[in-house]
Amino acid sequence: MKHQPLPSATGEDSDRVYTPVAWSSMICRLLPLSGRVLDPCRGQGAFFDQFPHHCEKLWCELDEGRDFFQFNESVDWIVSNPPWSKIKDFMDHAMTISNNVIFLITTNHAYTKARVKIVQKHGFRIRGLLHMPTPPKPWPQSGFQLSAIWWQRGYLGQPEVLHAVDNLGATA
Ligand SMILES: C[S@@+](CC[C@H](N)C(=O)[O-])C[C@H]1O[C@@H](n2cnc3c(N)ncnc32)[C@H](O)[C@@H]1O
Repeated sequence: MKHQPLPSATGEDSDRVYTPVAWSSMICRLLPLSGRVLDPCRGQGAFFDQFPHHCEKLWCELDEGRDFFQFNESVDWIVSNPPWSKIKDFMDHAMTISNNVIFLITTNHAYTKARVKIVQKHGFRIRGLLHMPTPPKPWPQSGFQLSAIWWQRGYLGQPEVLHAVDNLGATA
């Protein structure tokens, strides 16, 4: 996206910016996760390790030979911080195989015309937005609001907007 910090601008490979556990833990605590829960890009396990024990926990991670785009089983939830350069394709595939998708991304990332079309194509709507503080570096710093965005297939209500209750040690 234009006006977003790019990997070259931040000096980081933003496809490999890992989520601090305080962030993933808060998100997983607030969500009613149940059934089959997939982390499509596990990285070092920030989200996967926080999925409740009563769930069937599933994962993909390209670095470990499990490509999300080759995973075609149905699941109940998909929860992660996806690789930022592949968000559109991750949304499209996630909404094909799951009725609930939660991605930790800057909120504006969800609102390109192409991404809104994907959401509509799959019959999803935003069920909730959890506004989160920006984690400290190496997380790219920007003025854009970070959110855990929960899309749900068939949801007809208004989105609920929540704010993370403390700053989780964030610097921004
Ligand atoms: C931004 S990092 C986040 C990792 C982890 N979800 C977290 O929150 O810390 C994105 C991860 O996606 C992985 N990845 C990229 N493309 C993928 C694909 N097609 N299938 C599975 N994992 C992929 C990268 O290797 C990287 O570990």
